[in-house]
Amino acid sequence: MEHISKRFGDFYANRDVDLSVARGEVHTLLGENGAGKSTLMNILIGLYQPTEGKIFLNGKEVRIESPSQAVALGIGMVYQHFMLVEAMTVFENIILGGRNSSGIFIDREARRKEILELSERYGLDVELDKLITEISVGAQQRVEILKALYHGAELLILDEPSAALTDIEVEGLFAIMRKLIGEGKSIIFISHKMREVLHISDRITILRAGQVVTTVDRAETDGQALASMMIGRELSGSHYEKRVSKDRPVVRLDRVDYDKASKHNGLNGVSLEVRQGEIVGIAGVDGNGQTQLAQLVTGVIAPQSGAISFDEKHVAVFDPSAFIESGVAHVPEDRNLQGLIGSMSVADNLVLKSTGTSAFSKWRGLLLKKNAIGDYSRKMAQRYDIRCTSVDQDVRSLSGGNQQKVILARELESDPSLLVAAHPTRGLDIGATRFVHDQMIAARDRGVGILLISADFDEILEMSDRILVIFEGQIMGEFSGENPPIEEISLAMTGR
Ligand SMILES: Nc1ncnc2c1ncn2[C@@H]1O[C@H](COP(=O)(O)OP(=O)(O)OP(=O)(O)O)[C@@H](O)[C@H]1O
Ligand SMILES: [Mg+2]
Repeated sequence: MEHISKRFGDFYANRDVDLSVARGEVHTLLGENGAGKSTLMNILIGLYQPTEGKIFLNGKEVRIESPSQAVALGIGMVYQHFMLVEAMTVFENIILGGRNSSGIFIDREARRKEILELSERYGLDVELDKLITEISVGAQQRVEILKALYHGAELLILDEPSAALTDIEVEGLFAIMRKLIGEGKSIIFISHKMREVLHISDRITILRAGQVVTTVDRAETDGQALASMMIGRELSGSHYEKRVSKDRPVVRLDRVDYDKASKHNGLNGVSLEVRQGEIVGIAGVDGNGQTQLAQLVTGVIAPQSGAISFDEKHVAVFDPSAFIESGVAHVPEDRNLQGLIGSMSVADNLVLKSTGTSAFSKWRGLLLKKNAIGDYSRKMAQRYDIRCTSVDQDVRSLSGGNQQKVILARELESDPSLLVAAHPTRGLDIGATRFVHDQMIAARDRGVGILLISADFDEILEMSDRILVIFEGQIMGEFSGENPPIEEISLAMTGR
């Protein structure tokens, strides 16, 4: 890609970007939230047309006007948000949109055979007849990769493929990536996890504010150097003091069951409490009841047996708005589905829960005070470093990490007594992650009780005053102290 620029209105998402990817290499794009990584890749896959610049493939200039044209040229992309059709099977998804995928004369058997061969060759283990809804996130990703390969990808773009994967799944993904480059394919990899970037990359191109800072060989750099090139300043090491809270519990669960026969989507006899001024971290591999736990303590679902009390009062009515009223804030695990209304502005999303208050409306929400909302939103955008051209912009046009900051701003500013934070830094760059962590610690020190649910083990260790391990809907153990026993916790996470 040569001299690529992409302008949205007056804003340059990419400016004069040069990127060259060799055959048989993993080339990583590294940059802060909103640096322009996804935009550049959307140009390569034909979703966007560059405002300026040229693209060459094997030395020949190409015009890529649509994703199907990109596929025909041998470029495949696994998007930050998967694009699979949930109501269809794995097999149907893989053949979809390719060579004569419709009509009654498709030779299903021949295609199955072809797919199975690919799957075996690259170790992409999938069950072809399952529905997309029935398989894990890791498996969905393998389907996306298999799909790209089936359609002939020689250059594969992976936009934050590891953000939602477990450590074991990430290892599997890396093994597949190595096989692919071993066969002369090329991969463009995007990740915010420095450890992974250092591990898998051959070369790294750093983007900052839409421009290329530099391209370096993996062998000639390290994490510290990359981080400072990426954010344009040094980031000091972080260490948060652990706190032992003796204050009163904000929330308490007493032998709570919910769909307890289900290993992955239920809770079985869970007792726990979160006190004022402490962070309780739930460690565990995704899909062991964490989602249900978050839903219970935010009033989305009700326990089937056992009791929940909030501020030492027994909860009888499970209704999210009642929970919000009594001071529960929630950073949900799926920001697009549960955290934001994409077609509304940044400003409206920021005040979503307080449109009935006199600060922002007259007559309890009947008439909105637009100016007050605007002023408040601009203040929040600044305080939380939400990068947008204007607070009137649709929230869905923000980069993934900046969308997350909108949710955090709204929830933390609601002055909660309990904050339920599910994967609060998923997809955030290192600077933004640090910022969010600092904000959570500050909230804790103000007396907020925080239930932190995260599949990122490092985050749990760094942030939690107490750690509870969840496995198949059960709490396996509790750990605390300055140096929690990592080994033991990891074992508990796998049920031992
Ligand atoms: N359709 C659009 N309209 C207006 N602005 C846009 C649009 N798409 C992207 N942008 C802006 O371009 C910038 C770059 O966004 P992009 O999604 O490429 O960032 P990114 O590097 O992928 O970030 P992240 O790590 O958070 O995914 C952001 O500031 C974003 O708000
Ligand atoms: Mg992105």
